Amino acid sequence: MTETPLRVAVTGAAGNIGYALLWRIASGDCFGSKQPVILQLLEIPPGMQRLEGVIMELRDSAFPLVHDIIGTDNAEVAFNDADAIFLVGSRPRTKDMDRSDLVAANGPIFVGQGKAIDAVASRDVKVITVGNPCNTNALIACANAPGIPPRQFTAMTRLDQNRAVGQMAERAGVPASKVQDVFIWGNHANTMYPDPRFGTVDGQPATELFDTDWLQGDFLDTVSTRGKAIIMARGASSAASAASAAVDHMRDWWQGSNGNIVSVALPSEGWYGVPEGIVFSFPCRCENGEIIVVENLPVDEFAQSKIDENVTALLEERNAVSDLLGN
Ligand code: NAD
Ligand code: LMR
Repeated sequence: MTETPLRVAVTGAAGNIGYALLWRIASGDCFGSKQPVILQLLEIPPGMQRLEGVIMELRDSAFPLVHDIIGTDNAEVAFNDADAIFLVGSRPRTKDMDRSDLVAANGPIFVGQGKAIDAVASRDVKVITVGNPCNTNALIACANAPGIPPRQFTAMTRLDQNRAVGQMAERAGVPASKVQDVFIWGNHANTMYPDPRFGTVDGQPATELFDTDWLQGDFLDTVSTRGKAIIMARGASSAASAASAAVDHMRDWWQGSNGNIVSVALPSEGWYGVPEGIVFSFPCRCENGEIIVVENLPVDEFAQSKIDENVTALLEERNAVSDLLGN
């Protein structure tokens, strides 16, 4: 094995998502089966003892690809020269909250972490924000890291895409691998739009296989409220599926999406009329380490109304954190 190790930082590494995510990264699922990694794990001081236990277990797993593990409560140590960063560490919501209710508690975390990324991470770093509300937290981190191109700051809507794929696969009675090109517009919130119009199921257009009432009714509602349904059923927010989606997101960014459309939330450059200054989920393809927004897909009246609803919600979230945006 001759490849130079990648430095991969994970925040909230002793939390529930961290516990599922680290084993997938360490086993090569994300960066490739030949790519060594150095894990740089960040926690807050009360989480450090639990992090020690997580690191003991990682060492006990004897992963051949893991060349070193650093555990710290200092963001500049965790992000030092980092090639990839998973911003997970933050509070999850409880069953009586919306994700946007978390912004007061979690938003400030991403000011300091954005500044630390700006100060010490690789200039080519790829950042995925998982901690909620993830679109707006990504915006906060990005705004506080002016030395890193905005396109390198993303937020995760891949879990929502995977949920949409899972719903279609179950209804059609096929494995999830048969469902392609279903993607999410907008915010990781109840307003999101899982767009079925370009999706296929075993080669057949999703819009021919499923009726519009289901696609714009139960399908949309189930996907967009799945986070709350899991909290109600499990008594805790999704963790293993969230970690899996984070691996899918970063793996495709790193290794390519094989021509498939995937959902990535990133700072808008005005695509589809979505204003700059918000982090919005678009249909994307990943090639050669780049995320490319798929432009010029037709937008019908229903899709436009959902895009508009998400723009409004994200502008409201941005207004609520204007003091955290560093300008
Ligand atoms: P958790 O409470 O189990 O773990 C969070 C960890 O983060 C804790 O160990 C905590 O000590 C640590 N932490 C808190 N503040 C930190 C900081 N400033 N720096 C570093 N670490 C910090 O929560 P979880 O279940 O792992 O969820 C983490 C976040 O991910 C939540 O905000 C949750 O809502 C979000 N989430 C997002 C998605 C998505 O699709 N985008 C899916 C699931 C969960
Ligand atoms: C999810 O979608 O499962 C997460 O964002 C957790 C939540 O609060 O819904």
